[in-house]
Amino acid sequence: MNILVTGGAGFIGSHIVDAYITAGHHVIVIDNLSSGELRFLNPKAKFYKMDILDPKVPEVLKSEEINAINHHAAQISVSKSITDPLLDANVNIIGTLQLLQSAISLKIEKFIFASTGGGMYGEQIFFPASEEHPCQPLSPYGISKLCAENYLRFFNTQYGLSTTVLRYSNVFGPHQNPHGEAGVVAIFCEKLVKDQKPVICGDGEQTRDFISVRDIVQANLIALDGTCTGTFNVGTGKETSINSLTECLMGISGKNISADHGSARNGEQRRSVIDHKKFHESFGWKPEVSLEQGLVETYAFFQNQTV
Ligand SMILES: NC(=O)c1ccc[n+]([C@@H]2O[C@H](COP(=O)([O-])OP(=O)(O)OC[C@H]3O[C@@H](n4cnc5c(N)ncnc54)[C@H](O)[C@@H]3O)[C@@H](O)[C@H]2O)c1
Repeated sequence: MNILVTGGAGFIGSHIVDAYITAGHHVIVIDNLSSGELRFLNPKAKFYKMDILDPKVPEVLKSEEINAINHHAAQISVSKSITDPLLDANVNIIGTLQLLQSAISLKIEKFIFASTGGGMYGEQIFFPASEEHPCQPLSPYGISKLCAENYLRFFNTQYGLSTTVLRYSNVFGPHQNPHGEAGVVAIFCEKLVKDQKPVICGDGEQTRDFISVRDIVQANLIALDGTCTGTFNVGTGKETSINSLTECLMGISGKNISADHGSARNGEQRRSVIDHKKFHESFGWKPEVSLEQGLVETYAFFQNQTV
């Protein structure tokens, strides 16, 4: 298949590109490199340094004879979405809508969309949250993802486009940016490698559902199948507090550094954990990488970055 991966130079996208190439697909990447890095991009992918909002995107899709779109490019900063919701909506809603329209006019069969499970359900009513949990995003980022999801549903029912929404929990692994506001694993790994103290926001008892990027890649391989349509949570169903995550990372690093506590983040959910039963029962997907194994791999990656 000829597959377009938007955001293919980013953290998650770069791993998906590698897996699709290994599976024998021809991969085309569109990325504006706003947060992605060329060093993570597989040299076998055909690269267009381009914004997804660029009016020339449909020409690229046509000339490359794309069969499937895997859409990972996004404005991913929750705080930027709060200070500039218009920019967030432009990239995450209009950008997605333009790709969907191109998909229809070019008769592209498949559209996979990276959505958020962590940001979709807000302060949860039940644990873990299934796809049936009310969607009550706390930020414009979550709102724009929900809106884009609804466009996918519309394009599926109206035009028969095979659409797959993957709602990820908190993804971690090699290539994640350690300088962003999110990505606590990457941030803490870099701190520990540099013998600096990680700073835990608040009391550290807030929980997240951490999933290895390797498991996310498997989900994106399954999603290529034409029969895989609908909305699926992709998480582990396990809650881990930031305190226990930090403890585990400290152990892996073998360093005798204690963490500091800073002020809690405004508007942060207390508990976040999602249920992957639907994806498991429909397509057999389940997380295979334990938290500890994933953290060992991620820490090793950050160690190699700084030698
Ligand atoms: N990391 C997570 O825990 C997580 C959780 C849920 C959902 N997601 C979603 O997964 C996707 C990938 O996230 P990530 O963590 O790999 O982030 P990332 O920032 O590493 O990747 C995003 C990529 O998109 C590119 N990009 C951004 N805006 C663009 C634009 N307008 N045009 C072209 N390229 C653009 C960036 O340069 C980058 O390479 C995003 O859609 C994100 O919302 C991530």
